[in-house]
Order: sequence, then C-alpha cells, then structure tokens
Amino acid sequence: MTSAGSDAEDGPSLVEMFETHAGNKSDKWSHYPEIYERHLAKFLGEPVNLLEIGVFNGGSLQIWRNYFGADAKIVGVDIDPTTTLMIEDEAEIVIGDQADTAFLESLKTRMPRLDVVIDDGGHKAHQQIATFEALYPHLAEGGVYIVEDLHTSYWPHFGGGFGRESFIERSKRLIDLLHEWYWYNPSFNTYIVPPAERPQAMPAGDFAKSTFGLHFYDSMLVIEKRTQTEPWLRLYGQVSRDEVLKKRAQRALDEDNDPDIP
Ligand SMILES: C[S@@+](CC[C@H](N)C(=O)[O-])C[C@H]1O[C@@H](n2cnc3c(N)ncnc32)[C@H](O)[C@@H]1O
Repeated sequence: MTSAGSDAEDGPSLVEMFETHAGNKSDKWSHYPEIYERHLAKFLGEPVNLLEIGVFNGGSLQIWRNYFGADAKIVGVDIDPTTTLMIEDEAEIVIGDQADTAFLESLKTRMPRLDVVIDDGGHKAHQQIATFEALYPHLAEGGVYIVEDLHTSYWPHFGGGFGRESFIERSKRLIDLLHEWYWYNPSFNTYIVPPAERPQAMPAGDFAKSTFGLHFYDSMLVIEKRTQTEPWLRLYGQVSRDEVLKKRAQRALDEDNDPDIP
C-alpha cells in the first residue's frame, strides 16, 4: 500500500491527492478530480467496493487506495496483462475485456457488492454500453456509476460522431427512462394524490425505480443509484392561496373602514 489512508476523512482532499500524487502516473482530465470528490466523498470511512475499468499505469488505483484507506476493496480491470505489473498490493487487478459479457458476469461474482464503478477503459461506445448494461443493475443501493471521457462519443476513431450509436446518445435515452413515471399520466392531478392512497401502482421501469439522478459534466456522466418511490407533488406549508387572498381583502376592507386612515 502506498500510504495508509484509514485517516483519509481528516486528510487532504481528493483534489489535493491528485495534485500531489508522487506514485505511478494517472491520466485524468484536469476537471475530473473535483467531480470525483463531489460524488465519492460520501464513501470516506466506509468499506467501499470500487471497480475501475482501465488500469494503464495503476496511478488512479493508488490514489483510490490512499483516499479510501485500508478497508476499501479496490479492483482494477484491464485488457492488457502487463498492467498487473504496475502496482503492488494497493488493488487487485483482473484481466479481461470490458465488452465481454461473460467476463462482466464473472466480475459480479468476484465483487458481490459494488458501490462505485469508474469506466475509464477503452472509451468506445460498445464497450461503455456493454459494461453499463451488465454492471449498473448490479450496483448497490447508494452506489455511484461514472463513465469518463465521453468526448470520444464525438470522435470518429472511437466510433463516435453525431447520429452514431455513441454512449452520449445512449445516455440521452437514460434521461427519458429516468422520467418514465410521467410517460403515462400527463396531469399534475395524478401526482398530488399521496402514493399510499393511489388505486394502483404507477408503471415505471427499473431505471426510474432505482436512479436518483444523472449528472452530466464535460466528458463525464455520474449516475446515482438509489431506490425511488413514486413521485408525489406535495403541498408544503399550511396557508392556501384562497386564504391569502381572503386575508388581503379583509385587510383592505379594515383600512377602508378605519377613520384614522384619511
Ligand atoms: C485511459 S487508460 C486508464 C487510465 C487509468 N484509469 C488512470 O487514471 O491512470 C485506459 C486503459 O483501458 C484499457 N482498455 C482498453 N480497452 C479495454 C477493454 N476493452 N477492456 C478493459 N480495458 C481496456 C487500456 O489497456 C488502458 O490501460
């Protein structure tokens, strides 16, 4: 292990860790560390199970170990067998192809609980999509799924480009799926009824039922997995619009009748 990180909660920020990392090189775009920190800090002090697709020099695996500490389970996946030579015991490295569904199934067995997935592998749409389809359903409640380098969705040598089956195109469809609750009932009235009082459950797919949010950044998508209950348009507070208007009318009347007001 590069440096014990069990006290990471009180230690440097993840951004500082990337800036000062003296171990193996990690290639990440300069705006990524802040995004990681925003979504991964909640796992500090927890025995987080993190899988990163794409090892290369092993630098990012070392940083995850330093950040999350000794209790974290950190696994890196790469298609290149030489990556196993990159690090010591900071992380396990598993060799395989992120587009191979049988391999992805075996990863689920190896990591029965998965809290964080970071896809920094081959960056081609078919790889990103295969990995997402296999591993997102397996991600634990409260888990975070990150896909990096989505600019490749626009780069022809990665199979990207406008109108192509890129991961960005796939993720636009995820925006629709997040809102599946609203496809069949196009009226506010349906959602004002508290879920427990509804005559029947609202139809929605697994993605809507298990996803709290999609966060799009430059070249990065972060998906937060969290069980969702049926959407409910609640009325917070006590005073209705009619009561406000009535009060105003009464006040105007009182002022009209007040002999001290000229
Ligand atoms: C950008 S590098 C990873 C960088 C590393 N995560 C870091 O931050 O330092 C991409 C890695 O993905 C690996 N890779 C490419 N295609 C892959 C595939 N189909 N399955 C698994 N790994 C793949 C490459 O061998 C390479 O080591």
